[in-house]
Amino acid sequence: MEKLCNFNHEFIIVHLLLFASLLSFTNPTPSPTQDEQSQIISRFQEYLRINTSQPSPDYKKSTQFILTLAESLSLETQVIEFVQGKPLVILKWPGSDLSLPSILLNSHTDVVPSESSKWDYHPFGAHIDENGNIFARGSQDMKCVGMQYMEAVRRLKASGFQPKRSLYLSFVPDEEIGGHDGLEKLAQSDVFKNMNVDIILDEGLASPNENYRLFYGERTPWWLVIKATGAPGHGAKLYDNSAMENLFKSIESIRRFRASQFDLVKAGLKGEGEVISVNMAFLKAGTPSPTLMQNPWRNG
Ligand SMILES: *[C@@H]1O[C@H](CO)[C@@H](O)[C@H](O)[C@H]1NC(C)=O
Ligand SMILES: [Zn+2]
Repeated sequence: MEKLCNFNHEFIIVHLLLFASLLSFTNPTPSPTQDEQSQIISRFQEYLRINTSQPSPDYKKSTQFILTLAESLSLETQVIEFVQGKPLVILKWPGSDLSLPSILLNSHTDVVPSESSKWDYHPFGAHIDENGNIFARGSQDMKCVGMQYMEAVRRLKASGFQPKRSLYLSFVPDEEIGGHDGLEKLAQSDVFKNMNVDIILDEGLASPNENYRLFYGERTPWWLVIKATGAPGHGAKLYDNSAMENLFKSIESIRRFRASQFDLVKAGLKGEGEVISVNMAFLKAGTPSPTLMQNPWRNG
């Protein structure tokens, strides 16, 4: 158990034996030596330093990095581009009983954008401070998880462990923009069917302590686009039935629904995964013009 990084909300603890129980792993492996620990951290830093920021992630570099690691672990590798320039890297550790369904450990390679001027350290510098915290975009979401899988495989292999079930690791693109050209295409493919997957571990919450919480559930995104129309008018005049007023009616009813769902969570009656979350992601309104109050909001 090593503390690795801590940047605002991005902090993780690497748990090397994350899925040991899934693999019915019984031989405890010895703790990594100081030297092994620093190699684990170096590999993690190397991954973090690849700028896989949306909207133009460097997937060439991340693919190369993952393939190099996979080779060092003697894993079978496959790179699939369902959409050109959006590679999925799939690694396989074949099980001893091929009739059994497999385990899939998924992580995405892309990260959300960052503004380096607002960071204490460069978002792709993977700087380590004196407390051992690593600062980087993706340190939590979710390059840490991909590397935990890799390091767990490394330790299990080193201990002589042989899984009964085949184990797959998938590194997928574009999760941060919906995953349509990544995991979604994989899930619909024969490649996936042939993998005969029984259980998948995917993204969760990083843990700042020794406890690794497991979450399960299924959530479906639904993008609702509301277009409000109304009477046009000069910005210096008051008039009824403006587009903005009409939009407010929708926003207000959604806001009430949101509050009612959130109240259930706040009251401890429902878990976060048991309610419907609604968030306004984007608001575009008005026509910029020199007249008054025409364009009160952008990107709200
Ligand atoms: C990451 O790469 C993108 C696209 O090449 C670039 O626009 C962005 O500035 C880079 N981010 C940082 C923090 O270097
Ligand atoms: Zn994520």
